[in-house]
Amino acid sequence: MAFSNKKRQELRQALLSWYNENARDLPWRHTRDPYRIWISEVMLQQTRVAVVIDRYRQFLERFPTIRVLARSRESAVLAAWSGLGYYRRARNLRSAAKVVVRDHKGAMPSSADALRKLAGIGRYTAAAIASIAFDEPVAVVDGNVERVLARLHCRQLAGEQRWSTSQELLDLERPGDFNQAMMELGATVCIPANPRCSDCPIRKFCRTRGRGKVHGRKPRQHRREIAYLLVRRGKSVLLVRRAADHGLMPNMWELPETQLRKNNVKPIIFSLSHSITTTNYKVHVVGPRTRSARSDRDSGTWVNMARVSDIPLTGLARKILRRAEII
Ligand code: ADE
Repeated sequence: MAFSNKKRQELRQALLSWYNENARDLPWRHTRDPYRIWISEVMLQQTRVAVVIDRYRQFLERFPTIRVLARSRESAVLAAWSGLGYYRRARNLRSAAKVVVRDHKGAMPSSADALRKLAGIGRYTAAAIASIAFDEPVAVVDGNVERVLARLHCRQLAGEQRWSTSQELLDLERPGDFNQAMMELGATVCIPANPRCSDCPIRKFCRTRGRGKVHGRKPRQHRREIAYLLVRRGKSVLLVRRAADHGLMPNMWELPETQLRKNNVKPIIFSLSHSITTTNYKVHVVGPRTRSARSDRDSGTWVNMARVSDIPLTGLARKILRRAEII
C-alpha cells in the first residue's frame, strides 16, 4: 500500500475541499439522475467538455427520459448524435435503454456490476454512473486519473494496478465526488505537459511535484492467447471446478480450457480480451471439435444454465457466459 491510512484520509479531504470550491459548473453536475449521468459520461468519452455541454442539453431535450430514448427510432438517435462520432455508442445507448425499460421497468440498475451487463457500458462507465448517481464506492480510471495516480506515486501503473490503486484512494463516503475530483484535477491542474503544481491541492502527498518525469516505464504488458470450450447439451453447459488447493481462485467454476492449434478444427465462436494484472489475454471461445470426438467433453460437470448465475464463477467465466448470453 503506497500511503498510510491517515495520509489517504488527509488526501481525500484535501481533494474534496478543493473540488467543493473549484469544480467546473457543468450541467450533469446538477443531477443525480442516472440516465442523464450515463449520457454525459458516454459523450465525454469521445468529445471535449466544451462541446459536450451543448450536445448534452440538445440530446436531453430530444430524449428527456430513458423511456423516450427506448421507443425512438434508431435513425432519430443517430441524427441527434451526428457530429459526436462513434455511432456505435449511440446505437448501444438505444439498445441498452430498451433493455432497461423491458427488464427493469425503466429504472437504471444501481450497481456497477449490473450496469456492465448493458450494451456499451464498460468498466469505466459503470463505475462512473454507480458512484455519481448511486454512491456506490467504486473507483474510476480514465486517462486523467491514470496520470494523477502515476505522478502521485511517481510510478507508472498498468493494467489492473491502475484500478486497485484508484480504489485504495477512493473516498467511501463521497465516491462520486471523489471520482469526479480526480478527473477534474487531471483535466485542469495535473495536466499532461506542464502541470500546475502550485495550484494542486494534493501536492504535499505527491512524489513527483512537477520535478520531472515519473520513474520507470509502464510495466510491460504481456500478451497470451488462451482458449476455452463452450459446449451446451440441452439446457446445460459444461463447466469445470478449479481444485480446492489451487493457489488462485480455488473452488471457482470456469469453462474447460482447451488448446488452440494451427489448422484447428474447432470453430471459434467469439474472442474477447481480458486482463489480469500485467497480462492481456486474448481469449478464444471455441465449440466442440466434432460430434463424435468426445474427449473434449470427458471431464467437467453439466450445469443447468438457469443455475449458472448461482455458482461462484471466475471473472473471466462470467464474462464469457455473459457474452454467450447464457447469464
Ligand atoms: N470526464 C468524464 N466524466 C467526467 C466527470 N464526471 N467529471 C470530470 N471529468 C470527467
